[in-house]
Amino acid sequence: MKLPSRVKLVDVGPRDGLQNEKAQVPAAVKIELVHRLQDAGLTEIEVTSFVSPKWVPQMADNAEVMAGIRRKPGVRYSVLTPNMKGFEAAIASPRELWPDEIVVFGAASEAFSQKNINCSIAESIERFRPVVEAAREKGIYVRGAMSCTVGCPYEGEIAPERVDMLAGLMKGIGVQHVGVADTIGVGTPLKVQRALDATLRHFDLNDVSGHFHDTYGQALGNTLASLQMGVWQFDTSSAGLGGCPFAKGATGNVATEDVVYMLHGMGIETGIDLDKLIDAGKFISDFLGRKPNSRAATALLNKRAN
Ligand code: HMG
Ligand code: MG
Repeated sequence: MKLPSRVKLVDVGPRDGLQNEKAQVPAAVKIELVHRLQDAGLTEIEVTSFVSPKWVPQMADNAEVMAGIRRKPGVRYSVLTPNMKGFEAAIASPRELWPDEIVVFGAASEAFSQKNINCSIAESIERFRPVVEAAREKGIYVRGAMSCTVGCPYEGEIAPERVDMLAGLMKGIGVQHVGVADTIGVGTPLKVQRALDATLRHFDLNDVSGHFHDTYGQALGNTLASLQMGVWQFDTSSAGLGGCPFAKGATGNVATEDVVYMLHGMGIETGIDLDKLIDAGKFISDFLGRKPNSRAATALLNKRAN
């Protein structure tokens, strides 16, 4: 398979990246991060989630963040909505403040489904069904995130058959695109390819993306293995921020900076300005009082300093 010549990256930093931060990050900082990412050329940004503030206090300012963003034409803004309550909250605002895309999120592992969204896989699909229907009826694009497609913090290794089953269920309720997530970053390239293969039995190649956390340092390898299958869309997080509060041991998503560096080095276009992206990652890392969790950003910041 020929490698894609262009890749679309969805920066999930403002949502997946920040949801795990203990200290409340002000809405103004989240909004500034979104602005910097769109100025760097990102065309899709996962902004926030409409989940229970008791479960994820960091995302309690979801409506304020959505209202504060200066929309840039051509950029798609997405939010997580696990149920009708979340979806209704996401569209309680005037239409110009609605998300362009919503994300329902399920898991290939029963135990993770219970820990993350407090219901079984089958129940989650029944909760998603009216959300998908209502969103599509309103012209909002629907993505499905599939967690734990190679490994689960509670059940261990996950067989591709489980991914096959979940992808089929997502397709069955009208989800338009799915992300194959290695939630805890345990996957290695061949296992990730098997999870993608299972997904591609139900979704077109253009409707599948990779979402790799980098806990074991495998995310770039997993990205390359996905590219070799023709997958051209990936979720990444500026400065490698992140983790899931319900996935013990999970660290951040692969850093957007590292993926952009790799892709540009391979002659693959992203439309992203790496220097501006590094500034965005440095902005949020400075706010959080730590160094960017990106090898490429670290190397290029060191080079700038010399
Ligand atoms: P539940 O407790 O089962 O829901 O939560 P419930 O319907 O029984 O309601 C209980 C209470 O929650 C009620 O409030 C509801 O109103 C409220 P009370 O009457 O007790 O005051 N509630 C809500 N409030 C705000 N927004 C809502 C909402 N729904 C109910 N949407 C629920 C179910 C899914 C809401 C809960 O389990 C939850 O919020 N979980 C958090 C899930 C989450 O955000 N996880 C992290 C994101 S997923 C992720 O990171 C993985 C991903 O990156 C891919 C990967 O890497 O794998 C996407
Ligand atoms: Mg994630």
